[in-house]
Amino acid sequence: MRQGFTKYFLITALFFQYLSASATEGMWLPQLLTQLNEKEMKSMGMKISAADIYNLNKGSLKDAIVSFGGFCTGEIISSQGLLLTNHHCGYESIQKHSSIDHNYLDNGFWARNQQEELPNPGLTATFIVRIEEVTPQVLQGLYSGMSETERQSAVDKNLARIKDGYRKESYQEVLIKPFFEGNRYFLFLTEVYKDVRLVGTPPSSIGKFGSDTDNWMWPRHTGDFSIFRVYAGKDNRPAEYSKDNVPLKPKYFLPISLDGIATNDFTMVFGFPGRTNEYLPSEAIKLTVEKQDPAKVSMRDAALKVIDGFMRKDEQIKIQYAAKYASTANAWKKWIGEMQGIRQTGGIQRKLAYEARFRQLAPAYGGLLDSLNSLYQTQAPYAVSKDYYTELTRNVEMLNFANDLLTMMQDTRLKGEDQFSDLRKKYLDKVAPKYRNYNNDVDRAVAIALLDIYFREVPSRSIGGEAYQVWMESNKDSRTATGKMYELSAMTSFGKLEAFLNRPFKSVEQAIWKDPGLRMMIGLRNGYADFINKPYDSLQPDINRLQRRYMEAQMTVMKDKRFYPDANSTLRITYGKVGGYSPRDAVEYGIATTLEGVMEKYKPGDYEFDVPEKLRTLHANKDYGAYGVNGKMPVCFIASNHTTGGNSGSPALDAYGNLIGLNFDRTWEGTMSDINYDASICRNIMVDIRYVLFIVDKFAGAEHLIRELKLVHPKQAVKPLKKAA
Ligand code: ARG
Ligand code: GLU
Repeated sequence: MRQGFTKYFLITALFFQYLSASATEGMWLPQLLTQLNEKEMKSMGMKISAADIYNLNKGSLKDAIVSFGGFCTGEIISSQGLLLTNHHCGYESIQKHSSIDHNYLDNGFWARNQQEELPNPGLTATFIVRIEEVTPQVLQGLYSGMSETERQSAVDKNLARIKDGYRKESYQEVLIKPFFEGNRYFLFLTEVYKDVRLVGTPPSSIGKFGSDTDNWMWPRHTGDFSIFRVYAGKDNRPAEYSKDNVPLKPKYFLPISLDGIATNDFTMVFGFPGRTNEYLPSEAIKLTVEKQDPAKVSMRDAALKVIDGFMRKDEQIKIQYAAKYASTANAWKKWIGEMQGIRQTGGIQRKLAYEARFRQLAPAYGGLLDSLNSLYQTQAPYAVSKDYYTELTRNVEMLNFANDLLTMMQDTRLKGEDQFSDLRKKYLDKVAPKYRNYNNDVDRAVAIALLDIYFREVPSRSIGGEAYQVWMESNKDSRTATGKMYELSAMTSFGKLEAFLNRPFKSVEQAIWKDPGLRMMIGLRNGYADFINKPYDSLQPDINRLQRRYMEAQMTVMKDKRFYPDANSTLRITYGKVGGYSPRDAVEYGIATTLEGVMEKYKPGDYEFDVPEKLRTLHANKDYGAYGVNGKMPVCFIASNHTTGGNSGSPALDAYGNLIGLNFDRTWEGTMSDINYDASICRNIMVDIRYVLFIVDKFAGAEHLIRELKLVHPKQAVKPLKKAA
């Protein structure tokens, strides 16, 4: 009796914890705030209204937010199109402009005037003009007996028709995306600016301070920002790069608050989060954190260990592999955090409690949930093998290049032999820069480590004849198995590869079977296609259909729950509060870091923790200008905003919509927020805008940029009782 009660109580408590899911969970659609969020946002401290955030009749906050290159977020901070984003978002552009003579990654770069701003072909800034729901039009003509394939092709036809018929200006673009697992569709009218120039960046010792060691970590001390400017044609519309283009006159730009942050301050983050999966059933979460994450992490553990060993011994290799290492380590560390976070917060139990509640409210749908869970179980072995394959062909570069070569050959077979020289050139152009950072010894060592895991973990029949044969002939020793590949393959250097391809198509067709590197990849690729990807894909339509219906059912029966759609790289707003957290027993994290912490971490000459001399001097003299507080210089802070990859560079806004910081990361303990947000430990990490201004002004001496900005003091302002409209 007592036990039963405790159990009941526990489940109910878990459930209520879920339903009342902290107000800070969610990535909301800006055009639906009035309906869904405004009241709550105001109760949490917001001083503006939803109409100040998204408005079609006048410039509003949304007009200052851009998708930066499609992979990050940026915001407009001056009437002259000045754009702020992260250093790690601008990294590639900065790298491309760098050389031994002027190494902007190492030393930073500051254009002294607009003539000195540097163009970046291919880089875009996309504004959202309006968002409209088009669900009825997209679902028109669909009926319930349709197969998933029929349904998809009907949807695709409708999408094409809606896009074609949509009234827009010639310089605008239309994008339609599914939301809530395909239950709803929204259309985005966009303006894509194609002339985005680099204005300034701090050196990596500030913009990337702490590098991989500090990545995903709190306390953090990174000045992760860079500055660009959006240029437009003389008519202020999007235009291809031209030296005659002029700075964009934006509809709106963000004022910047100098008043800083305090615990419990209301915050919003506005940007383009990439991908989340918040509505998976319990089996899918289990699959993710108990099988897929561990598989991916084990492959990357092995690859990173090998590469690190080489990088420590060889300066040249260190330069060649630094960027690859950072990007491999980034997701690796995130997945480790995700597994831990789900365990620590009882994520799976919470899902189970939620599902129990759902079954109670919608008994008729219990079967659907069972089917969905069991489909994920059926798919699990293929999903895991798929991850092993993806990690193998991503981290072993020879296999990666070989895979692309085989795809190019396949394309030629499809398109006709006369296309060969063209397709060959495209392929070589794609791999040429990668070969510049390729080292055959490093790659072989990675291959030895990863093929060993692959051959042991993936069922033998999925491995593919030619690859399996090599494995057996090598007595299951991956060192032996890779011997010929790395001695004899044409893939061992760019020169050999070029020579290998420099003959008629038919002759290449025959040669690929004799090359040990390509032959290995042919085996792996065919094994994957037939025995991993095919069965995996064959289950996907059913999963999609049931996920869609499960989503619909949840939204129908959970009357007291507000639903937000999973992130899909569209414009979202999330809100929370400045606040610390306790990651472990007896550990309490504060809300903000200062330059004192930078100096504590300072390691002279270290590639992660060096501090530039100028910054050390400013610190020694406490020369912080208007940006310091009580003799200290703020650097980063955390809050409970629900963010994900793609939110990098997003503005952090105060209760009035002023810019207070720049989002660039999440805390390690909370990276499971992509599948199961938990307000107790999920925190996003931002650079304090005052640190950005201090670096621009005091460190770089770029006062002309500061003069472009609108600096405000919302906390100091004496507000009249009634604000005039
Ligand atoms: N973790 C952040 C993100 O997911 C920052 C990555 C870049 N920084 C780095 N040290 N690798 O993108
Ligand atoms: N650093 C991430 C990005 O590049 C943001 C961190 C996150 O995943 O929340 O978008």
